[in-house]
Amino acid sequence: MAVTIKSAREIDLMRESCRLLEEVHDELGRFIKPGISTWDINRYGEELIRERGGIPNFLNYNGYPASICVSVNEEVVHGIPRKDRKLKSGDIVSLDAGLIYKGYHSDAARTYPVGEVSQEVMQLIEVTRQSFFEGIKMARAGNHLYDISNAIDDYVSKFGYGIVRDLVGHGVGTSLHEDPQIPNFRQNRRGIRLMSGMTLAIEPMINLGRYEVEWLDDDWTVVTCDGLPSAHYENTILITENEPEILTLSK
Ligand code: MF3
Ligand code: CO
Repeated sequence: MAVTIKSAREIDLMRESCRLLEEVHDELGRFIKPGISTWDINRYGEELIRERGGIPNFLNYNGYPASICVSVNEEVVHGIPRKDRKLKSGDIVSLDAGLIYKGYHSDAARTYPVGEVSQEVMQLIEVTRQSFFEGIKMARAGNHLYDISNAIDDYVSKFGYGIVRDLVGHGVGTSLHEDPQIPNFRQNRRGIRLMSGMTLAIEPMINLGRYEVEWLDDDWTVVTCDGLPSAHYENTILITENEPEILTLSK
């Protein structure tokens, strides 16, 4: 499938979809505390999406059985919410959520500390978030796609963290996953030229230890091979002639 350029009307719809998703994430962030289960997060998240008129786009996507991906500690992404998986102080939890509004998909992820976490793990969360912002400094019309990938890698590598290679960012629009794929690690080519009107989900997944990941037997949950924690940060952005608009982050 080709990379899509959104019209002014489509961009407005993307803005609306993403604004609603930002609200959902803000509420979920306030909900995180020791003692809640990952299923509680999913249930609340689905309610927040639906009460805004959105449809959870992850639910039943290729058979994924929930609306919010909830990944704890060494789980990188696509954790399946469970009633018997309770958060405790010292955990970190990554929430990946998306919705469809008037036919347009939004996609964003945040990683939160639960209670008190170690300095080491807090830095992982902060560097992962910052790597997104380092990447999108390059995200403007006329630059090339892999300028974003290389900027993320340059920043993260200074900390010695592992950058997940098996999963990447992507275009987003009338489908959750559109072209192009957007790696978070260094590429030896420039990639496509960025154009105004592209909407992209940029989503670094960063491991405290080594970059290798594997899949659990549920065929969804991605975990680090070394068992060390992983963080995820994602926003849907709009490419413009100047700085990108971060559609899932208005503040
Ligand atoms: N947010 C994920 C992504 O960026 C989508 C989750 S796929 C699901 O690709 F099936 F788990 F929902
Ligand atoms: Co995504």
